[in-house]
Amino acid sequence: MTTGARTHELEAAFAERLGVSHALAVNSATAALHLALEAFGIGPGDDVVVPTYTFTACGEVCAYVGARVVLADVGPDRLLGPDELSRAATAATKAVMPVHFGGQAVDVAALRQAVPTDVRFLEDAAHALPADVNGTPTGRLGNAAAFSFYATKTMTTGGEGGMLVTDDAAVAERARRMRLHGINADAWNRYGAGGRWFYEVTEAGFKYNLTDLAAAIGLVQLDRLDEMAHARARIAAAYDQAFAGCELLDRPPRREGDRHAWHLYVISLDLDALAIDRATVMERLAGEGIGCSVHFIPLHLHPYYQRTYGYRLGDFPVAERLYERTVSLPIWPDMSHEQVSRVATTVLGVLDAARRRVEV
Ligand SMILES: Cc1ncc(COP(=O)(O)O)c(C=O)c1O
Repeated sequence: MTTGARTHELEAAFAERLGVSHALAVNSATAALHLALEAFGIGPGDDVVVPTYTFTACGEVCAYVGARVVLADVGPDRLLGPDELSRAATAATKAVMPVHFGGQAVDVAALRQAVPTDVRFLEDAAHALPADVNGTPTGRLGNAAAFSFYATKTMTTGGEGGMLVTDDAAVAERARRMRLHGINADAWNRYGAGGRWFYEVTEAGFKYNLTDLAAAIGLVQLDRLDEMAHARARIAAAYDQAFAGCELLDRPPRREGDRHAWHLYVISLDLDALAIDRATVMERLAGEGIGCSVHFIPLHLHPYYQRTYGYRLGDFPVAERLYERTVSLPIWPDMSHEQVSRVATTVLGVLDAARRRVEV
């Protein structure tokens, strides 16, 4: 039931799909991010640049290895860009964690121009499978990448799971050992064909391996990935069309020529034109039976990052402005045409009824 043949099959299929040398199945993207930083040799005295517009997993893994999180603002596309990276990077910056927010991949090659060549790039690809920049898939843009198979992601291994990918043999070797107690071979090798019972613990490792039960689900999901991705793209296109003429919201930005995974469909409200705030819009949608969410509350607004690093409201104005206006609409592969059109019509109705009237 635990790590074995199915897990190795999933790793091989995943590596082949992305065209990477190494894919290591783990029990979350958070574990993959942690293992990558550890394998890069990042530790106390090192800085890691993380966009503030992300989930706390990105910041907490820096704390796990004793590094300092240096937050950066994002561009209007909610992504870390070269300008934001240049402003945030310090002499101690050893790694950068571009986040492929919502499924739009970050142009990592452009980011590389902003920092010295020995800085490592760890892609947070939790939202971005399958996605690419000009034909280069996520997972091959940085020095390593972390994918999530959490329940809501574009593929799942039954609720929790993740994958670390890299072309760097040394990083893969270190992470492979550290994901299972710092032991020099996993259970498959120990109890497999050779029946070899001897093992050595070379490090204080972690317990991050994926189970075969989860991998079996992952293999079926990976087979369906393109079908599910096309369904998501169709839903995004239907939303795009429904919202095309509406000046009360902006549709999610995307770069032509790149493949978007459409994990999220995130609209941005024109609050100046509305008499209500984002929370009220969401309450009214909930009242119509439409559950929405907010991605993300920027990291610098959370107590942990304020207490630990002294960040304050006002530090990253672009992220704050995006956050106030952002609503993630429902999107999942089996969503029917009727469901999409009911959500779109309801959103347009709620916004139209809340239009700020100009006093004459
Ligand atoms: C941007 C981002 N990174 C990392 C993660 C962590 O993924 P996991 O739950 O697989 O650890 C998430 C989870 O939602 C996420 O949204």
